Amino acid sequence: MKKLLALVLVAIMALGMVQLAVAEAPIKVGVCIYKYDDNFMTLYRTELERYLKEKGCEVTVVDGKGDQNEQTNQVNAFIAEGVDVLIVNLVQSTSANAITDLAKAANIPVVYINREPSAEDMQAWEKICYVGADARQSGTMQGNLILDTPNKGDFKGDGVVDYVMIMGDPENIDAQYRTEYSIKALTDAGIKVNKLFEQRGDWAQEKGQELAATALAQFGDQIDVIFCNNDGMALGALQSIKAAGRTVGKDIYLVGVDALDEVVELVHAGEMTGTVLNDHIGQSHKAADVAIEVAGGAIPEKNYTVDYVMVK
Ligand code: BGC
Repeated sequence: MKKLLALVLVAIMALGMVQLAVAEAPIKVGVCIYKYDDNFMTLYRTELERYLKEKGCEVTVVDGKGDQNEQTNQVNAFIAEGVDVLIVNLVQSTSANAITDLAKAANIPVVYINREPSAEDMQAWEKICYVGADARQSGTMQGNLILDTPNKGDFKGDGVVDYVMIMGDPENIDAQYRTEYSIKALTDAGIKVNKLFEQRGDWAQEKGQELAATALAQFGDQIDVIFCNNDGMALGALQSIKAAGRTVGKDIYLVGVDALDEVVELVHAGEMTGTVLNDHIGQSHKAADVAIEVAGGAIPEKNYTVDYVMVK
């Protein structure tokens, strides 16, 4: 009898442990980053991984290397592995539907980050959502940074702000909106503008440097302002501005977006006009929190937006 009791007790304890093990199984998160070779996304993914681990998740992060096929394969691999939730920074925003279809077939929710799919694509399934920032806000803030300068961006005093625009990847809504809204802020304030040069630098510092050098060689002293869709390209542009013998704040203005540490220091030292904080900490934490909730079965809202902040 005693033996039987002991056996029953052992069985109950074992069952309890199994239940405990099941209850404590960590949430498996598959994170797809569009490419590792990106200043801003490097900060973002590092914080995202750290925070998810802090929350007890099992995390795997992969590099899409700027290749949508590669990323689609990575999504398939995560699905085959049986992750509980995906966090995806698309290579191409237009591939959202293809990724959503794969995830939906396996009933694995997706939190899209950084590269916003179209509003229509976001309607494809209730278990997908987007966590990011509204790039119109960052564009407007870039324009406001110029409006806040003593001559409102017009060094030559001819009543027109002559500008150069160095764009990110034009397929990305962040690039489109920052390009449009930075200038809109000026024209809305009644300022006349003249676009001297506009080209894509795909978010990269080397390309920012190259394009700014080309624009400076072509338009020289005519240029009042160089707008860059991100800080990476602005850092490149600053190298070319210096090489051309120009001085930010004295004869030219330069603005970016992201508030990389290096750029914030330059802004405070007066070597760059300003930047806009793209809050990778707020965004990565929100993305992780939402991912954990949807992995647990919650239905997300469609959009979670984190504010930008002007830095000057
Ligand atoms: C950032 C860029 C980054 C891009 C990647 C943007 O929001 O401002 O620095 O390269 O996202 O998609």
